[in-house]
Amino acid sequence: MLGRFLTKLRNSYRRRGAVGTVRNTLRRAVQALKEMTPAGRRFSRRREESDRDFDTRFGVDTGGLIQLNQFQIPSEAWAFGNPYGAIHPDDFARLLGVLPVRHNEFTFVDYGSGKGRAVLLASERPFKKVVGVEFAPELDRIAHHNLGKFPAERRRCEVELVCGDALEYELPDGPLVCYFYNPFGREIMEGVVARIEESYRRNPREIYVLYANPLESAAWDKATSFRKLAHNGDYALYRADPAAVPQHYSEPLAAHGA
Ligand SMILES: C[S@@+](CC[C@H](N)C(=O)[O-])C[C@H]1O[C@@H](n2cnc3c(N)ncnc32)[C@H](O)[C@@H]1O
Repeated sequence: MLGRFLTKLRNSYRRRGAVGTVRNTLRRAVQALKEMTPAGRRFSRRREESDRDFDTRFGVDTGGLIQLNQFQIPSEAWAFGNPYGAIHPDDFARLLGVLPVRHNEFTFVDYGSGKGRAVLLASERPFKKVVGVEFAPELDRIAHHNLGKFPAERRRCEVELVCGDALEYELPDGPLVCYFYNPFGREIMEGVVARIEESYRRNPREIYVLYANPLESAAWDKATSFRKLAHNGDYALYRADPAAVPQHYSEPLAAHGA
């Protein structure tokens, strides 16, 4: 037992370094303590019920809470990723309700889409397109399978599933909703924020960030191109701020290989 713990600690140190290991251990300890409280147990029960109901109803497989070390993920970022667990359908409906958008103009991007439950639920709205980005190939495969099973008559827009790292995903042109359900830690979130800000400065357009269970919202609070519209314990909503883009923005020299 102690041997296994020390091996895990050594592996974590190699991947995350000392600070990352301490932070990750604390995060897991806090999570374990939360799960033991009455509220935590209620949350787990609610999750199990919603997993069962949603999956049975649509003949899909979106349930479960799965640690990322169960998967073969070809990215260093896996050490900072959070476990797979799907959003509750009622919570997702409430989140979409706060979006002040004309669906047909916006592409909805789920960063860390897992087995694709949020993607399926978003596809019931008339978005221009829904994209899921997931770096665990096993989860991406299940999401493709789920997409095939989901009743075609419920789908109101095109769906694209991308198997890859959120840090490398190139955002499409046009208005966007970037959705996060607590997919990763600060290290990755800061990189993703930087990429989205860069995309916005290069091509200013309407961008909303909808962040459920916003544990790393500090990364968005610091983003100079985004303004916070709402924040409570359950979600945070940000909007790209046109005033933050210089009138004659030119790409950084590094982008041209200088
Ligand atoms: C909490 S689940 C969210 C699932 C889904 N978005 C939903 O709302 O039901 C987080 C997901 O993010 C994925 N993930 C974590 N880090 C990632 C990264 N760097 N790139 C892509 N996906 C990542 C995990 O594999 C996991 O499937």
